[in-house]
Amino acid sequence: MELPRARRLVLFLVVISGLMGLYMLFVSLQIQVPWHRPLSDTKDASSSLEAYEVRDSVPVDTFVATPIPELGIRFRILPKAGPNQTVALQGLDGSTRPTIEAPLEAIEGSTPPPKPRAITTTTARTTTVPSRTTTPDFFGDHYTSEDAPLLTSCPDSIRTKVPHTSFAKRFLGRVPVLQWAKHATESEYQRLSHFHGAHGWGGVKFPLLKACLSVLNTSANRVMFDDWERRANRSQCIRCAVVGNGGILRDSKKGLEIDQHDYVFRTNGAVTKGFEQDVGSRTSFYTFSTNTLRNSMHSYHGVGYNGPPLAEETRYVFLPDHDRDYILMRASAMHTPIETGPERTKTPPKYFGENASVEKFKMYHPDFIRYLRNRFLRSSVLNGRYKDIYRPSTGAVMLLAALHTCDQVSAYGFMTPDYKKYSNHYYDRTFQAVAFYVNHDFRLEMDFWQKLQKEGLLRLYMRQ
Ligand SMILES: *[C@@H]1O[C@H](CO)[C@@H](O)[C@H](O)[C@H]1NC(C)=O
Ligand SMILES: *[C@@H]1O[C@H](CO)[C@@H](O)[C@H](O)[C@H]1NC(C)=O
Ligand SMILES: *[C@@H]1O[C@H](CO)[C@@H](O)[C@H](O)[C@H]1NC(C)=O
Ligand SMILES: *[C@@H]1O[C@H](CO)[C@@H](O)[C@H](O)[C@H]1NC(C)=O
Repeated sequence: MELPRARRLVLFLVVISGLMGLYMLFVSLQIQVPWHRPLSDTKDASSSLEAYEVRDSVPVDTFVATPIPELGIRFRILPKAGPNQTVALQGLDGSTRPTIEAPLEAIEGSTPPPKPRAITTTTARTTTVPSRTTTPDFFGDHYTSEDAPLLTSCPDSIRTKVPHTSFAKRFLGRVPVLQWAKHATESEYQRLSHFHGAHGWGGVKFPLLKACLSVLNTSANRVMFDDWERRANRSQCIRCAVVGNGGILRDSKKGLEIDQHDYVFRTNGAVTKGFEQDVGSRTSFYTFSTNTLRNSMHSYHGVGYNGPPLAEETRYVFLPDHDRDYILMRASAMHTPIETGPERTKTPPKYFGENASVEKFKMYHPDFIRYLRNRFLRSSVLNGRYKDIYRPSTGAVMLLAALHTCDQVSAYGFMTPDYKKYSNHYYDRTFQAVAFYVNHDFRLEMDFWQKLQKEGLLRLYMRQ
């Protein structure tokens, strides 16, 4: 039996439009973006600071991180924040924070931040306003402010120079760089659970957050340079070497110079064995997120990277993207197994050594990461579909943390304008082009290092 031709055509159209409708539905729900290739020119080369990062909002026990070196990252898009969260945020301002830094008026070279919204209106606290107008302030350019005791009287420290540079207005000398037990309060949770990923505590349940952060209750967890006072060879200024993993370091012979700083910062696949002449051997601070650490162990095993450095001086600074980070930090410091999630273990995790004491662990404060994103690395990615997964790269966070804590900073192995001449990493066996990822903006970061260098805030290693 043959349908008349016209009816067949109609049927065909109905089926096609049905399929398209389904497709549109999936797209508009933004459930998942399929395998993504790195964004960029395949012929580029030099220092990407880390390989594969995944941001997601899926509960730990259902989430599988699957880095595929050749293809890039599998992403999930964060769900849009609901209207309830706005009301919670709006109800919060004022009393919960000791000081609120003034919102930034404008940042050169970037779109002006949204006006601090509705926080002062009383009506917004009780009424449900249509979601268009109550979309929570994505940027949240307000941060807590804390006193950090000065450890030195360095005459030409970064903090004394900043007021004379173009960064004066956006630089906050009192933004907390680290979070610890004190911060795990209900009111701080109300304020920060509105921001996702590294920028807040969204997706981390309060009891879990509290149980984990409260482990960081020693004086060493509160400050970066917890051993400074005990050091016999203190200099007048705290001089830091911050070492990225860029190919520019290969054959640089900078190892000795790096090791001669008071503190040496490293990140992710920072293998030093066999590369001491070029990159040095000390590591005072190792910065990573659980995800970047696991990916580094997976991707750089072949070049000798077997995990974080285990020297006595080494401190481990988590960049928490996810509740996985809080869970791993607690288990590593308390020496307890992890019962659920991708880091599930039967025995206590050993990434940081069998006997790592709680004093060895630190964690970046979400206010600090959000402040870096908003004020220094406000990428155009934030105007597009990847805005929820964008964050400053792990290397960028490490370098900016040093700029906010050290008196003087030298950076090595970070991306420079001639990056195409160098392999992606100094430890690459064969030349690899620099890989770019949709959740970072390496070019913006590269330009920013150049600006800091020109303003005299940073000594950036360049080949010429
Ligand atoms: C939003 O708030 C209403 C009223 O308090 C509540 O019934 C609802 O469950 C909340 N929705 C979410 C997603 O939390
Ligand atoms: C710090 O935390 C540990 C483990 O949670 C606990 O045993 C200890 O009593 C706490 N110390 C202080 C001073 O609160
Ligand atoms: C300071 O002393 C420590 C311990 O003796 C040593 O590891 C470090 O290299 C010294 N730092 C400098 C800058 O000489
Ligand atoms: C850890 O501590 C135990 C008990 O103090 C000791 O026997 C062991 O050798 C230590 N392990 C390492 C790697 O230092």
